[in-house]
Amino acid sequence: MKFAVILMSLLLLCITSIVSGAASPVLPKGYAVWKKSERKVVTDKNSLFYGIHYIYADKKAQRGYLADNRFPEGSRIVVESFSIKGSPAVDGPKNMVVLMQKDRRQTATGGWLFAGFGVDGKPAGLDPVSTCFGCHQKDAAQRDFVISTKKDFK
Ligand code: HEC
Repeated sequence: MKFAVILMSLLLLCITSIVSGAASPVLPKGYAVWKKSERKVVTDKNSLFYGIHYIYADKKAQRGYLADNRFPEGSRIVVESFSIKGSPAVDGPKNMVVLMQKDRRQTATGGWLFAGFGVDGKPAGLDPVSTCFGCHQKDAAQRDFVISTKKDFK
């Protein structure tokens, strides 16, 4: 009896994590060949992206940018961030990779999965609601929570 209860709760736990999409996010392989933004330099040390970064958009996300930030389900956007070295700034070592993936199950974060990764591509375990969503909601609530626009890809 006890065993059955444990089994049931384990099963329920699995189902809930599948339904809520709570499984650890995966950094898409091959994003390096997606559409790449211009090189962006942020010199404000208070910014999350202090340093140099590039934005990558997959095919669906490219359509979303062209539709003035209305993104189809499944769109994926990756940012690779590098530290700044020297003056004039050159790209230092990579220090962070972040992902937004349009996923209607992620209701707490505007229908996007937010995830941060280390340079090794392993999930950084950051909480998407407290770590990520605030800025995106503040800066881009009218643009599907995506701050950059098609202008960044010229
Ligand atoms: C301090 C504010 C801030 C926080 C916190 C933040 N972001 Fe952003 N994010 C930005 C800004 C500003 C841009 C636009 C950068 C640009 O235009 O070059 C951006 C851009 C992005 C993009 C490219 C798509 C877009 O919206 O332009 C992704 C993907 C992204 N962030 C993911 C994340 C993830 C994942 C987290 C949490 C780990 C996070 N962000 C936390 C400010 C923030």
